[in-house]
Amino acid sequence: METDPNDYTVIKEGEAEILLHKKNQVFFNKAQVNNRDMSIAVLREFISKRKQEHEAAKSSKSSRSASKEEMNNGEHQVTSEDGLKEPAKTTEGLARGEPKPPKVLEALSASGLRALRYAREIEGIGQVVALDNDLASVEACQRNIKFNGSLAISKVESHHTDARVHMLTHPKEFDVVDLDPYGSPSIFLDSAVQSVADGGLLMCTATDMAVLCGGNGEVCYSKYGSYPLRGKYCHEMALRIL
Ligand SMILES: C[S@@+](CC[C@H](N)C(=O)[O-])C[C@H]1O[C@@H](n2cnc3c(N)ncnc32)[C@H](O)[C@@H]1O
Repeated sequence: METDPNDYTVIKEGEAEILLHKKNQVFFNKAQVNNRDMSIAVLREFISKRKQEHEAAKSSKSSRSASKEEMNNGEHQVTSEDGLKEPAKTTEGLARGEPKPPKVLEALSASGLRALRYAREIEGIGQVVALDNDLASVEACQRNIKFNGSLAISKVESHHTDARVHMLTHPKEFDVVDLDPYGSPSIFLDSAVQSVADGGLLMCTATDMAVLCGGNGEVCYSKYGSYPLRGKYCHEMALRIL
């Protein structure tokens, strides 16, 4: 690992800062900022929806238990000393508890910029696991985790491994799996689907638009099992194929 600070430039995106080596051996695409911003918006919405669903499940559970309790007592409402009817009490403890913070896998992390932004910018996020099969990328990611301070250190971990192996050996482990490969994500889809927990979220970036939009039908068929048509609607079709 190179240690001379003069060899690095600091890049700031959102709340995260990464060190980019002058030789730039590690992937960094400035233009993908929109993609990362969008993923952050989607993740925030996912966390808020999960909270709402959790609240709804909790309140329907407590009202079910309360009516069960009333039935057992042979009463449907409690009458107070002054004769006024009071709502039945819910079972204690059922109204407590928050949903677990979602555990996120950034399967193809490069510098770790995306994982670091998730950790720093998304309230209520859980552990973020960042993987890469390229050693220089993992070293950069670990350096960047330290560079982003204690919150990043406590939330983000980085491992040198093949993402497909990790996902296949960690079934239903992650509430969110994020795939951001070079080009087509097709080779990662099978393992990614297996690694997402029930009710979880699979986020997928595909930069092979030309293929998905019908530039080469055979290649698209071999990657996605779907034959694209050329037309004005090609972008929507690309999304549907994916
Ligand atoms: C497009 S870059 C990721 C960019 C990053 N997500 C970001 O937002 O800056 C793709 C990364 O995937 C890594 N990669 C490719 N195949 C992999 C595999 N099978 N397992 C783990 N990492 C892989 C590459 O080394 C590269 O760093």
